[in-house]
Amino acid sequence: MKKEFGIIGMGVMGKSLARNFASKGIKLALFNRYEKGSEELVAQNFIAEYNELSSASGFEDLKAFVNDLSTPRKILLMVKAGDVTDSTINEISSLLEPNDIIIDGGNSHYKDTAQRIESLKEFGIHFIGSGISGGEEGALKGPSVMPGGDKESYEKIAPFIEKIAARDFNNKACCSYIGKGGSGHFVKMVHNGIEYAEMQLIAEVYSLMRFGLLLDPNEIASLFKRWNEGELSSYLLEISSEVITKKDDGEWLIDIILDQAGNKGTGSWTSIAAAELGVSITMINEALFARYISAFKEERVKAQNLYDTDNSSEIFDLNIDQIHDAYKAARIINHHQGIHLISAASNEYSWDLNMPEIARVWTNGCIIRSTLMKSLIKVLKSTDRILLSPEIISEIKNSIDDLLEVTAIAILNRHSIPCLSAASNYITAYINAQSTANIIQGQRDYFGAHTYKRKDDNSGKSYHTDWS
Ligand code: 6PG
Repeated sequence: MKKEFGIIGMGVMGKSLARNFASKGIKLALFNRYEKGSEELVAQNFIAEYNELSSASGFEDLKAFVNDLSTPRKILLMVKAGDVTDSTINEISSLLEPNDIIIDGGNSHYKDTAQRIESLKEFGIHFIGSGISGGEEGALKGPSVMPGGDKESYEKIAPFIEKIAARDFNNKACCSYIGKGGSGHFVKMVHNGIEYAEMQLIAEVYSLMRFGLLLDPNEIASLFKRWNEGELSSYLLEISSEVITKKDDGEWLIDIILDQAGNKGTGSWTSIAAAELGVSITMINEALFARYISAFKEERVKAQNLYDTDNSSEIFDLNIDQIHDAYKAARIINHHQGIHLISAASNEYSWDLNMPEIARVWTNGCIIRSTLMKSLIKVLKSTDRILLSPEIISEIKNSIDDLLEVTAIAILNRHSIPCLSAASNYITAYINAQSTANIIQGQRDYFGAHTYKRKDDNSGKSYHTDWS
């Protein structure tokens, strides 16, 4: 019997997804490359480990793998983004037939996906670029899936890929056709950008509580658990309670983990996309840059000595309720910025994205799943600027003072809080009709005669002043 679905790449995500597909009764062909000494019989040995894979077939010969699939073939690539994805596509496309479908489930760049769709068209091969979020556990139990490409091809893979997705609160698959071209990978990229800022906010809240209020990790974790029972509930807050209380030989593991953050690229891609589209995602940028600053560990150690920095800045005039509401406001602003970016891309690339549906797909399975996300489905039905929706306006009005006070007090006590600070500056600017750009326009016209508009002339006419 030919198999109905193929997966290439038996890494952490590929293996978890394979077990998920198999547990839904889908007949699989699994492929992993042959690397002498390091990757031999990987797919075959993996199949032997798990009962749910008993009807799957394993290969390390690509031609045999392709021939084991019924047509039109549906093949999911779970390999490293970039060159490895390109080389795998090049190798397999010559073995495929018109109407076969390749699905790229890696964290590929949306512009690469758009190019791959076009270049495979000449072989009659359909290409779907799909974000898959949820990490190893999500892939096994049910990820959030964001496929983009041509709709007809999506319809052919939907019966398979929707089966393995997480379910939302109505038991509907957290998998939905996102849109044309690279839109699926774009949405996943912004998911990761929002994720970066959510993670940074939790890190800043933890740091204020630990080193400002001098709470110990157990006390902080119990606060996070209490918050996680209410409106601030999220996957990231939930796991952070466990991260900060893990012990290592009687020590807090969190105090032993080196404070240098890595990143695989999706955060920086989000910042670049926002710069290209003219969207202000200050919190995602600050979360990315906080990772970059953390990478200069040796330089920071040297600088602390040179500046003779006193880090024991206990904070006396800050309380937990203020931090709670500051965190709440900042999260809303982070989601506002990320969603604004998706909306701008949808307009720029004519993707016509369904914002409420994207929020629904993010209500379970993905890393940024949260109670807030669920509430955004309704909000996004009326606007893609969540800070302009009535229910969000009252939330922000009730918490903005705490956000600004926590930011000011933290900074005065020498606590670095780039994301909370970005949230404070963004919301202050966003809800103020007057900006400082009139000075900028005057300066630009002074040195570059770049002209400016006048408030008392709505005709759109440009003015230049002889400043001499
Ligand atoms: C997800 C995660 C996943 C990956 C991160 C890591 O949605 O399941 O976001 O894609 O673990 O992208 O990204 P960094 O290494 O850049 O933090």
